[in-house]
Amino acid sequence: MDTVLYIEGDGIGPEVWAAARPVIDEAVSKTYTDGRKLEWLELLAGQKAFDQTGDYLPQETLDALASGTIGMKGPLQTPVGGGFRSLNVTMRQVLDLYACIRPIRYFKGIESPVKRPDLVDMIVFRENTEDVYAGIEWASNSPEAKRLIEFLRDEMKVDVDLDAGVGIKPMTSMRSKRLVRKALQHAVDNKLPSVTLSHKGNIMKCTEGAFRAWGYEVAAEEFAETVMTETEAGNGGSKPVIIKDRIADALFQNVLMYPEQYSVIATTNLNGDYISDALAAQVGGLGLAPGVNMSDQIALFEATHGTAPTIAGKDMANPGSLILSGAMMLRHIGWGEAADRIENAIETVIASKKVTVDLASQIEGATTIGCKAFGEQILANL
Ligand code: NAI
Repeated sequence: MDTVLYIEGDGIGPEVWAAARPVIDEAVSKTYTDGRKLEWLELLAGQKAFDQTGDYLPQETLDALASGTIGMKGPLQTPVGGGFRSLNVTMRQVLDLYACIRPIRYFKGIESPVKRPDLVDMIVFRENTEDVYAGIEWASNSPEAKRLIEFLRDEMKVDVDLDAGVGIKPMTSMRSKRLVRKALQHAVDNKLPSVTLSHKGNIMKCTEGAFRAWGYEVAAEEFAETVMTETEAGNGGSKPVIIKDRIADALFQNVLMYPEQYSVIATTNLNGDYISDALAAQVGGLGLAPGVNMSDQIALFEATHGTAPTIAGKDMANPGSLILSGAMMLRHIGWGEAADRIENAIETVIASKKVTVDLASQIEGATTIGCKAFGEQILANL
C-alpha cells in the first residue's frame, strides 16, 4: 500500500477530486490482482484549512509533506488581501520542489491549432527555484532599487538609468545541474531519444549560457555511458540518448514545425513557464495538462490549472488534468499499467465526443457533459 498525501484545493478543487479519485482507485484495482491499493491521507491547505484552523497553510501540512514521498494537490487560490504569499510558491520554496515536470501528449479527436498534433510527445523539465522568475526585484524609484543602481553605477561601472525597476537573475551550477540530471535520468530510464537544453545563452551568457554549459557537464560527468552530444552522434557514436541545445526562441519555432525532433526538454525557470503552456496549447490546452513539482524526496503531482473561480461549484470543470496527474503519479511509483489504462480510457471518452465544455468547444459535433459525468465516463471505460 502506498500513501498519497492529498490536498483538495479551492474553487473547482473539490469537484475535480470527486471525479478523479474514483478513476485512479478503480484503475489500480482493475489492473492488479495482488490487492495493491493507494491509501489517501488528506492534508489541509487553502480556504478549507483556514476555515478549520485559521491558517491557510498549517505547519502540520508542511511537516507532513516534508516527510512524505508522494502527494497530489488540487489548485490553491492565492488569498486576496495584503501580506499573503502564494501558497503554491511557499510550498515550492519550503519543500525545495526544484523540478516542475510537465508531459505533453496528444489525445485523438481534439482540434488543435497545428497540423500534426499527433507528433507532439514531449516532457518539459523546468527549473523551479531561481532565475528572474524567483521574484528578487525592486520597483522603479524605490529606495532599494536606487541603492542597487547606485552601486552598479559607482562600483561596477555599468550604466543603468536611476529610475529603472530592477530584477536579479541568479542561476547556479548546483541548481541547474540537479534539474538537468533529473531530465537526463528520465530520458535514460524511459528510453527516450533526446534531451534538449533550452536557453538564451547567446545573449545572457553568464546565466543562460552557463545553464547550457552545466547541462553538458552533467551529461559528460555522470551519463557518459548512455548520453552523447549531437556532434558525437554525427561522428558515428551510438548511445541511447542524445543531448542537444537550442536557443529558446528557435525552439519555439522548431516545436511547431518539427515536433518529432523533440522529446525531453530541460530548461530554465522563465523559459520553462512559457514553453510548457505553448506546448499544452498545441494539444488542447490546460484541461488535459498534468504536472508534478519534485524535490529529491517528494513528488507533488498537480493539475496545472488554477481554481477557475467563475465555474466553481457549477459542475463544469474538466477533471482530466487531475486524472492525468494521477496517471503520472502511478507511473512514478512503477504502476505504469494502471496509468496506461487511465490514458486509454480518456482517449476513448474523447473519441466518443461526450466531454466537458472546455473540450467540447475544440471538438466538432461534441456533446457537453458535466465534470461528474465526464469522470463517470472515464471510469466506465477503464
Ligand atoms: P485558472 O487556471 O483558474 O483559469 C484560467 C481559465 O481556464 C479560466 O477561464 C478557467 O475557467 C479555465 N479553466 C481552468 N481550469 C479548468 C478546468 N479544469 N476545466 C475547465 N476550465 C478550466 O487561472 P486563473 O484564473 O489565472 O487563476 C485563478 C486562481 O487560481 C488564482 O487565485 C490563482 O492564484 C490560482 N492558481 C493556482 C494554481 C495552482 O494551484 N497550481 C495555478 C494557477 C492559478
